This record gives sequence, C-alpha cells and structure tokens, in this order.
Amino acid sequence: MRRGLAAGNWKMNGTAASLGEVEVLKTAHPAPAVDILICPPATLLERLSSVASGSAIATGGQDCHPEKAGAHTGDIAAGMIADAGGSHAIVGHSERRADHHETDAIVRAKAEAALAAGLVAVICLGESLDQRESDQTLDVIGAQLAGSLPDGLTGANAVIAYEPIWAIGTGKIPTIEQITEVHDFIRAELVARFGAEGEAIRVLYGGSVKPSNAAEIFAVANVDGALVGGASLKAEDFSPIIAALE
Ligand code: G3H
Repeated sequence: MRRGLAAGNWKMNGTAASLGEVEVLKTAHPAPAVDILICPPATLLERLSSVASGSAIATGGQDCHPEKAGAHTGDIAAGMIADAGGSHAIVGHSERRADHHETDAIVRAKAEAALAAGLVAVICLGESLDQRESDQTLDVIGAQLAGSLPDGLTGANAVIAYEPIWAIGTGKIPTIEQITEVHDFIRAELVARFGAEGEAIRVLYGGSVKPSNAAEIFAVANVDGALVGGASLKAEDFSPIIAALE
C-alpha cells in the first residue's frame, strides 16, 4: 500500500512572507495520514526547512545540477539542497525541460545526482498538447520513462510525477479516463523495469489540481498524490488538497 504524497512546487514564487503559509499548514496537519512536501524557490529552502522542522512537512529543491560542485553559475547541487534541510529534489519538470533545454539524459543525470546526495528524486514526465492530440501520449511517456529514470529506483528514493504540459497552470485537466490510462501505463512500465519496487514507487498527477478536483483525481487507483503548483502557494488551497488525499 503506497502512502499518499501531497507535494507543492512553488516554482518562482514566494518570499519570507510566504513562510506564514507553512505555519498554517503545520497547525492544520499535525499528524497527517499522508506525506506532505513543499519545494520552495532555493532562496527560501533553508528558512522553510527550519519552519517545517519537527512537523510532518518535508522540503525539497525544484532542480539540481548533475555535478557535485564547480563552475556553474546560478546552479544548485543536490548536496546543497540536503545541506539546506531538503530531502527531495524535483527533476525534469516540463518548465525546465523547455526553458533550459533539458533532455531525458540530463534529467537522468540530475536524478542520479539527487540519489547520490541521499535525496528522493521527484522525476517529472508529460506530453504536450500536440502530442496528446496526435495520439502519441503513451509513446512520449514511455520514451521519457526509459530515458529519464536511472537504474536502481525504489519506493524510498524516487517519485514519478505525470504532468501533461497542457494542463499545467491552465485550469484544464485530462479526463479521469485519460489520467487512469497514463498512470496505469506508468505503473506497468515501473514494474517491468524495477520489479516489486516498481509497485512501491509513488506516481503523482500534476496539472491544475485544485481543492475542487482533487478528490476525483485521487480516486484513480494508480494516482498516489499530486504535484501541485499554483494551489500549493496558499494554505487555504493546499490544505483541502492534502485532506482530500487522506
Ligand atoms: O509542478 C507543478 C505543476 O507544474 C502543476 O502546476 O498546479 O499550477 O498547474 P499547476
């Protein structure tokens, strides 16, 4: 039985004033029946980890560099995320794949770096609208799984996030049948490659998850939680999403 995971990706949002949202979540969810993760911008990670310390809320980075250290201006190593109190690193988010030209091979190298630093890698996948409309979704997801996932993934060191690009920040979500089809496919691919651990790896849905649609998405058998963007920024939105997963 996989434990649910409600993960918030704050993207390029948040300042010190946002830490109050974490205080609210801590109070609202002192002993949740699911795991909670918040990935703030790097500037807030250490402070947010400090605020979350002693609570059920884990923290993480939104990206990490494949290398441990070096001349990479503006980048952050996985070990730095751990040093700042984080336990997870998102890698391969579609915004980074697009904005920073990250290929599957780069995403895999980043995931390997996260694992080497003792972090849980949250590896993101998803098709574009063109790919969805031309019936390539499963081929695209299959190729991303094959190319982006390192060997040796387990339920303890990895999470997969399926995020249709066209559903991110748009208010549109796939039908429940479409979510079911992709999550069942991802589960089968994980089991084929990682055996029993493939059953243990959590698969999140991401893309316009809100309090109003969370429950029906979480009712899908192979949906183990959500990677939430906009609705994770305010406790009043994220809290009911967490509750819907419990
Ligand atoms: O990482 C989160 C996803 O990109 C979803 O973002 O909930 O704002 O659509 P969204």
